[in-house]
Amino acid sequence: MKEAILKFLRNADGYLSGEEISKSLKISRAGIWKHINELRRDGYEIVAIPHLGYSLASMPDKLFPAEIQNNLNTKILGKKIYHYEMVSSAMDVAFDLAIKGAQEGAVILAEGQQKGRGRMGRTWASPKGKGIYMSIILRPRLLPNETPKLTLLAGVAVSQALRKVTGLELFIKWPNDILIKEKKVGGILTELNAELDSVKFAVLGIGINVNTRKTFLPQKATSLKEELGRNISRIELTKQILRELDNFYLLFERQGFSSIIELWRQISSTLGKRIKVVSQKNIIEGVAVDIDSQGALLIRKDSGFVTRVISGDVVGIR
Ligand code: BTN
Repeated sequence: MKEAILKFLRNADGYLSGEEISKSLKISRAGIWKHINELRRDGYEIVAIPHLGYSLASMPDKLFPAEIQNNLNTKILGKKIYHYEMVSSAMDVAFDLAIKGAQEGAVILAEGQQKGRGRMGRTWASPKGKGIYMSIILRPRLLPNETPKLTLLAGVAVSQALRKVTGLELFIKWPNDILIKEKKVGGILTELNAELDSVKFAVLGIGINVNTRKTFLPQKATSLKEELGRNISRIELTKQILRELDNFYLLFERQGFSSIIELWRQISSTLGKRIKVVSQKNIIEGVAVDIDSQGALLIRKDSGFVTRVISGDVVGIR
């Protein structure tokens, strides 16, 4: 009911009388008042004037499901959204929900995370209300060794969304770092629940430093606010990320990975460069020549030999 009243207020041209709301939603005046106060507690500023009615003066920059779903227009993602003020990690919440049967495309949004995590055991700075900390449950028909494709797909989708909302030029460092001028602004973490020959579900974790101040970020990281000098609406950005991801995920299901690889190549900051890939097992040095049809990085070593790398950290060599 709270959501329905909000929808009315959002679409109203001027003041909306209590009588109108009461008639349309078949709810008492006292009921409306109760929900209006709940909305106020959520941070919505609602003006109430006797004989005129209610008007929505401002909205909080909170990632409430009703805000994200408003004009979202996606086909798979975000039909179900879970929103939390503070979690340990949105990845763990998503895993629990997926094990209990949450549907494909369900989105977990947290305002803050106490133990946000990144790839290779790193932490992900997640100050409350500053960034986007989102995990998405997917149930793709893929073999476990094909899932790096999802990470690359997400990288392309997130970069497009960021570019559309901010106008900034972004690059992807293989496999998943979203960069602005060589500084990391976002990252993607894919975790699986899989058996040897099938993926039960995948959780795509997306972290974006949106309005985060430098002091909260690791060295060599940046935020959209740091780059632009102004705040960005986390709501608009979250919606755009979901739209782009929805598009690319459908494209991937219908046409395969090749169209996505091409886009990835165009925004890669890795290809053509001399790099080192540091993994838990070893260090491989050479020139990053391409990615293959599975999303693995191809490195030409000085011996001329081309090696295929599926995980690790890319370090540039000048
Ligand atoms: C990386 O670049 O290493 C990946 C960072 C992924 C961070 C996101 S924030 C939402 C989700 N919850 C987490 O704990 N991690 C991912």
